[in-house]
Amino acid sequence: MYAARVDPPWDLDAWRTQARAALQAGVEPAQIDWSDDAAPSLLAPTPVTALPPVRDAPAVPGEFLASAARVLAHRDPHRHALLYRLLWRLANGEPRLLGNALDADVHRVRELEKAVRRDVHKMKAFVRFRAVPGEHEAYIAWFEPEHHIVDLAAPFFMRRFAGMRWAILTPYRRAIWDGESLQFGGGARPDEAPADDAHEALWQAYYAHIFNPARLNTRMMRQEMPVKYWRHLPEVHRLPTLVREAGQRVREMAERDAQPTRKPAMVARAAKQVAALEGEGDSLAALKAQLPECRACPLWQPATQPVAGEGPADARVMVVGEQPGDQEDLRGRPFVGPAGQLFDRALADAGIDRALLYLTNAVKHFKFERRGKVRLHVRASSDEQAACAGWLRRERAALRPERIVCLGVTAAEAVLGRRVALLAERGRWQRASDGTPVLVTVHPSWVLRQPAGAARDAAYRGLADDLARLRRAPDGPEAP
Ligand code: URA
Repeated sequence: MYAARVDPPWDLDAWRTQARAALQAGVEPAQIDWSDDAAPSLLAPTPVTALPPVRDAPAVPGEFLASAARVLAHRDPHRHALLYRLLWRLANGEPRLLGNALDADVHRVRELEKAVRRDVHKMKAFVRFRAVPGEHEAYIAWFEPEHHIVDLAAPFFMRRFAGMRWAILTPYRRAIWDGESLQFGGGARPDEAPADDAHEALWQAYYAHIFNPARLNTRMMRQEMPVKYWRHLPEVHRLPTLVREAGQRVREMAERDAQPTRKPAMVARAAKQVAALEGEGDSLAALKAQLPECRACPLWQPATQPVAGEGPADARVMVVGEQPGDQEDLRGRPFVGPAGQLFDRALADAGIDRALLYLTNAVKHFKFERRGKVRLHVRASSDEQAACAGWLRRERAALRPERIVCLGVTAAEAVLGRRVALLAERGRWQRASDGTPVLVTVHPSWVLRQPAGAARDAAYRGLADDLARLRRAPDGPEAP
């Protein structure tokens, strides 16, 4: 017998090192003990990595490696041996083995993969972050996966919550994202994660928004949301109410769908609604408090929340974007997702302090289309933009900025009140109808959409150069 040790036991590279050595030494599957509990001793079997190679490493199909990465995450103690058996057979006369679903080894691999995929899905669905007391924008979640899936699932959270610092703690492993790099460490205890916090309200609001009453199936819900996850899910407390109200909400949805959409009427109604909330000498804080009541267009419904402007109430410069993106929608703050991060970098390169600016959007709700689990940005229609115009008008009246910067065509048209040819008009000062100097430039998302390399670098430099014009007065060389 020979010994093979995979450490850590879910790691593809660690397994490949052992399997490659065994295969090159011609060791048959039945001759290897893969168990990891054997204490080292003089009588222990020879490690496969100590054997001399007698043949070259065979090429392995990419499909096999992708499956192996998932299978290794399963807790089945026989998975290392199973994968080696498959590898051995692939390299010894059965190159098409993976296509044979009736083969017992292939079948078992598919079963393990399925269980791991399901566990990853549950982790994505049931992880709930809680704010770390006393730390700005730092979150920790506690989660108990069935399998060793933290490494497989962590990249999803990195993409989804790129703009915040977070850690996911599990009993066997932790994943930590500091905003720049993803690190893994040892297991944790539940009490290392914070208890309930103010963000529970956000999760509950988010869940109430994504809950689709027409697809209510309580039996499936119990199956999909095993009771062991419940105590970590703040939205569970909303379930009884949502389930009770489901019938009424389905009727309302059907009635709404049956109505022809009379858009001009919607815009007029919107203007009336926003104006009705208006008070003498409105403050930005008052506007922010009213915004969640807005029903001026249908965008409030699928969105998690409206995103109000942010910045000092005496800011001299207002920056207007198009509409919140996925991250902004979840966090309720403008420019915190990937476009916001690029914008921050361009501001820093232009020598401008973001903390001095008031940032807002022409449209206050995120409009999106669902593609599987991803929410893709969709541009608000001209009616939806018009329905939101009252909020920007009121923000401008409350702030009275000395300058306005518009990022992208939607913002420029909302502020200037006319069609804008962005590429022709960018980078020079113009005046809004009330005389405020306005600088139009490209949107950071447009920069991100340019092909990586020279085109994106040039687009980025153009944005930073345009922003740098803010440091000069519209009609003179002095800084504002
Ligand atoms: N894009 C915008 O226009 N606004 C945001 O707040 C984020 C992305």
